[in-house]
Amino acid sequence: MCEDVSLAQLAASEGTPLYVYSAGIVTARYRAMDDAFRGYPHALHYAMKANSTLSIARLLRSLGAGADANSGGEIDVALRAGFIPEQIVFTGVGKTPAELAQAIDLGVKTINAESEGELDRIDRLARERGTRARVALRVNPDIDARSHPHISTGLKANKFGVPADAVRDICRRFAGREGLEFTGLHTHVGSQITDVDPLKRAAATVVALAKELRDDGIAIDHLDVGGGLGVSYDGSEVPSAEDYAEALLPVVRESGLSLILEPGRNIIAPAGVLLSYVVDVKDRPDGKAFVILDAGMTELMRPMLYGAFHRIEPVLCTSGPEIVADIVGPLCETSDTLGKDRRLGRPQPGDLFAVLDAGAYGAVMASNYNRRPMPAEVLVDGGRWSVIRRRQTIDDLLALES
Ligand SMILES: Cc1ncc(COP(=O)(O)O)c(C=O)c1O
Repeated sequence: MCEDVSLAQLAASEGTPLYVYSAGIVTARYRAMDDAFRGYPHALHYAMKANSTLSIARLLRSLGAGADANSGGEIDVALRAGFIPEQIVFTGVGKTPAELAQAIDLGVKTINAESEGELDRIDRLARERGTRARVALRVNPDIDARSHPHISTGLKANKFGVPADAVRDICRRFAGREGLEFTGLHTHVGSQITDVDPLKRAAATVVALAKELRDDGIAIDHLDVGGGLGVSYDGSEVPSAEDYAEALLPVVRESGLSLILEPGRNIIAPAGVLLSYVVDVKDRPDGKAFVILDAGMTELMRPMLYGAFHRIEPVLCTSGPEIVADIVGPLCETSDTLGKDRRLGRPQPGDLFAVLDAGAYGAVMASNYNRRPMPAEVLVDGGRWSVIRRRQTIDDLLALES
């Protein structure tokens, strides 16, 4: 079940592969994070990159979230979901001049600037428009987030931000620029972080830098400590939103600056499943088997991209003898493996499986490889559900081609 709705019925009605999200879980997780920081001035800017399906973004907005957009496209979607520019922070390591101009013209809350070159471009674009752009400088604190290297962003070898020891000098040089209004400092050390220590150390770095800026007469009003708090994909214990706040608040409090957080995965990952039918079961010479699903790397890239683990469960109990199998997708790539060496009751073609905790970095990373139309998405709320993104058709795909 997803809330009061049967997953088997949803799959029968809408077909597979199918993403199903629980509005109740999104709401509960957003509120848990918001509550954890109660009593300290803060704003949660939901990281659109985790899942920006319009109805999901709208739901988060209705709960009181702001948005963290990572591209001009995500800014557009945020606006169409009803966020106003003052609720949007704009992050991204390679913002184009057109994207910067879009953000400046809109007057977004803050542009998180990634380099001196970008500060320079923002200044020029703002002056050309006779305005001042609100900017925060992204700090790379050289902290190991102890997450997968592909989603760690806070080491000096990573492409993000400017080194902590360069921040003071950069701010001194740029603070007087006519087109810039320095409003904050930003950092984000990675995603799927399951130890609060790196998050706390990153916050301590920006707090210390904020003090230096104050000594230099540069008055900022917020610290943006990014997202990154992980979730449990395998059932093991991970820090809660309360643990996160307990780690961060004592560090941040002395600064007196308001806090921006950019949670994505923590809110949306556990709220989604990917439903998929078994297409075939193939025995292997080594005694193991392949369970071939109708969903694969085109629907959920994470296992192939970062070796990510997702629990994959039968929606109805299967009674076949236990087997050890690789659960794979239908694509012409050996890497198209959703789960390796899984023990499960031998399924039959036509059995339905759910890939759990697939709400974040799932649908947003879907592709049309092998000319596969993108999956449909359903949002469940109590006993009601609706298709929030219809399944793509071959006609949709070919509409762009001559
Ligand atoms: C700048 C920034 N903020 C927020 C996030 C969201 O991270 P998460 O989904 O781990 O909370 C990301 C993702 O990596 C990011 O790059």
